[in-house]
This record gives sequence, structure tokens and C-alpha cells, in this order.
Amino acid sequence: MPVTRREFLEKSAAVAAAGFVPRLPDDFGLNLSAGTAPGSLVEGSGAPAVLKGRARPCVVSSSNGLRGVKVAYDQIVSGADPLDAIIAGVNIQELDPEDQSVGLGGLPNEEGVVQLDASCMHGPTRRAGAVAALEDIATPSLVAKAVMDYTDHVMLVGAGAKKFAKAMGFREQELLTEKSRQDWLRWKARLNANDAWLDHDDDVRIKFTTGTINMNAVTASGDLASVTTTSGMAWKVPGRIGDSPIVGAGQYCDNLVGAAGSTGRGEANIKTCASFLIVEFMRAGMAPRAACLKALERVVAMTETRLLGPNGRPKFDLEFYAVAKDGTFGGATLYSGGKFAVCDERGARLEEAGFLFRR
Ligand code: GLY
Repeated sequence: MPVTRREFLEKSAAVAAAGFVPRLPDDFGLNLSAGTAPGSLVEGSGAPAVLKGRARPCVVSSSNGLRGVKVAYDQIVSGADPLDAIIAGVNIQELDPEDQSVGLGGLPNEEGVVQLDASCMHGPTRRAGAVAALEDIATPSLVAKAVMDYTDHVMLVGAGAKKFAKAMGFREQELLTEKSRQDWLRWKARLNANDAWLDHDDDVRIKFTTGTINMNAVTASGDLASVTTTSGMAWKVPGRIGDSPIVGAGQYCDNLVGAAGSTGRGEANIKTCASFLIVEFMRAGMAPRAACLKALERVVAMTETRLLGPNGRPKFDLEFYAVAKDGTFGGATLYSGGKFAVCDERGARLEEAGFLFRR
């Protein structure tokens, strides 16, 4: 059953009419310049929201989202829903065969099968959706949103997720591109010098990625959304699920506070639920970048010995991105040199991420 825009709009209108959609004041905004912490806006605190004009629309993403943040920002300032806008932003990478960390062309698992993970959150309605180990559908972010919009569940995995996607009208396609197939064969041939696969000296560097795209946005009225989508860790054990589809790890959004998400080694992030943690740090009054750095400290503290180098630092990298309800934003990585994408009234650009350790 194909999902039409009209059906989606009718459903959204029906939900709103039923009173399930919490509404924010039109000019909801934080006055951080006067020292107002996001934490002061916790519902039921009795403290009225500080109404100091509108929020600053802003979209923040991993660096591979440079094209996507512009698309999402333009949609947001034209009045689009923030989740629809950022999903349109990440769709660009999902459908780009050259991005081997996401969607079509993503690097496969150890058996040569591309398995995709994604999750999203919609701040205004406090809803979430996710899919994991999804095969043959190029846009898991949209399937995650369909789980959110059309089921009573938050997460579908594997064969069930694919069955659902097909029922919703998503098109099946081969996601393993020729380039990714060649990379998989190179990786496979190099696994064991004594197996029946011959190594070739002309092989280029074996690729490895825990790439991914995360995107978060805030609108002028202070509504937030977040989405993360990935092909996950290259050459993974079939069925491995990373942090991206896990709400609270791969991304998280609280419409009262802000949104955050991650790219990088998912196993390290799952243990810290860092996107949730970053939003909680912002709720306690930290700026987005400082909140990302604080979460990275937690990641280091939670790293098992086998993954620490002789200097006691993690052997992997992990990147966090965050936007607060007032439109302030930031990003941070474990190691220096990281960048993230942002689009606001100054346009789309890459910015330097904060870091814990100099390379
Ligand atoms: N962060 C993507 C993954 O580990 O799957």
C-alpha cells in the first residue's frame, strides 16, 4: 500500500484534532543570553517559558551531510516539519552510491549483504521510530519514520522490517554497488593468507567504515527533530546492529531541550546512551559542544581495556553533534581534526569539532 503525502497529512491532521499533539507557544524561545538554562523549562516545573522572540532555525549534521543541511534548512525556513526536512537531508546520502557508509552503496556485512539501520525522533509529538538490519530498501530513515507514523511500535528489525517496508510501498533494490562488492572481495581475500582466496598486490587500502549520517534540526518556533541512518560497521557479523537505530544512542530529541546524535563506533556509544546523555547535559545548562565533550569523557571511562592504546586512549573514534532549542549548536570528536556540517542564517558550511585528544 503506497503511502501518499495526502494520507500522511490527513493522518497528522486527525492526530492533532484528537488532541494528541502538544502545541508550543508560537514565539517559544530561550533567553540563554540572560543565563536561562534549558533545564528551567522542564514541564511541570511551574516556571513559565521565557518568551524572548523566536528560536534560531538551525540544522547540524555529520560532515557528510553538507549538502543535506542546506536542503533541510531551506525546507525548515519554508515552514516544513523539522523531521520531514532532515529526512530529506539524509535521503541525499542514502541514495548516493558514492557514500559507502549509508544506504545504497553502503559497505556490506561479512557475507556481502548490505544491512541498514536508522532511527528518528519527532520533538513536537514526542514520537520515535527505528529499523535495524533492514535489507534491500535504500532509505531506512523513511522506513523508521513510517514505523513511527503507522504502527504502535518504535522498532522493527530484519525480515519483519523489510516486510513492513514493502507493505508500505517501499521499493526493493540491490544495495550492493559494484564498487562496494569489489571492496568486500578485497577485504575477504585479505582475511587469511592461507585460505583459497589469493591476495593481490595491487589491492588498494582495505576500506573500513563506521560512517553514518546524523542530522538534527530546530525550527523558528523551537520544534526539534533528529535522525540517524547508516549501513553500520563494514564487514560486520550478519545481524549486528549498531547505535544508529537505538533511540537514546544514535540520536535523541526532547522538544523542551535539544537534539543530539552520533557517528563512529556504535558499540562504544550504545554503552553510554550518549545522545540521551548529551540532551540531559544540555537540560542541566551545558552548551551543545560542552555537552558533547562531556559525553565523550563518559565514553572513554566506559571503554574496555582491549580497545585502549598504550596511552590509555581509545583506538577508535566517535563523533557527537547537538543543537539546543535556541539554535545554538556544537560537535565534538574524540580526536582532533573532526568537522561537522551546519546550516543556519549564515549558510551551509563545515565547522571544526571540539575534541578530547590531539592526534
Ligand atoms: N555508528 C554507526 C554504527 O556503528 O553502526
